[in-house]
Amino acid sequence: MPIIAPSLLACNFLKLQDECNLLNESEADWFHLDVMDGRFVPNISFGLPVVAQIREATSKPCDVHLMIEEPGKYAADFKIAGADHLIVHYEACPHLHRNVQQIKTLGMKAGVAINPHTPVQLLQDILHDLDIVLIMSVNPGFGGQQFIPHSLSKIQMLRQRIDQLGLPTIIEVDGGVTLENAKSIIEAGAHSLVTGTTIFKAADPRATISRFKHL
Ligand code: DX5
Ligand code: ZN
Repeated sequence: MPIIAPSLLACNFLKLQDECNLLNESEADWFHLDVMDGRFVPNISFGLPVVAQIREATSKPCDVHLMIEEPGKYAADFKIAGADHLIVHYEACPHLHRNVQQIKTLGMKAGVAINPHTPVQLLQDILHDLDIVLIMSVNPGFGGQQFIPHSLSKIQMLRQRIDQLGLPTIIEVDGGVTLENAKSIIEAGAHSLVTGTTIFKAADPRATISRFKHL
């Protein structure tokens, strides 16, 4: 059964408590929180105070996806805000190994996200240190985009490598995940699905989460 991580980027922020309750009562496994700085990505979303408030509204793991430059400057603050998983971008981190160690030392699960143009092979020398690899299946910055089909072969390649090495690393896939393509993403080797628009724009979000869970 896949891990389901709804992205709150697509929720109604005027009803944040209700949206959190909805996820709490659903089969969702993680809360996926998309933090954007308007520099690494061409969009600004929300930051530490919102993460801290969402933390208060759930006991499910908060999977924080940092689409920001210099994430190391803020890692300790995100721990305080209540992040359980902290995911940084490969493309934003010239000293990725240091960033990953910092996250783990702070007591969070460490994840690395890769953009659509970044080959999975570039993770070869950091894979052993990662709890999560986030394969971006759209260009980060916006919800509601189309899944890039080439992502499937990246997922397959990475899954093969992880299995070869016998690692427990979770492969998470983020962007354009729908009820139509979710099965092929799981079959390619993903363990966890991020999905925003499909869940929050659905007539019945809770039933939609259940459908993702039982594909
Ligand atoms: C994109 C974000 C995603 C996004 C997914 O930059 O990282 O988490 O919110 O949303 P959908 O499911 O709408 O593609
Ligand atoms: Zn995300």
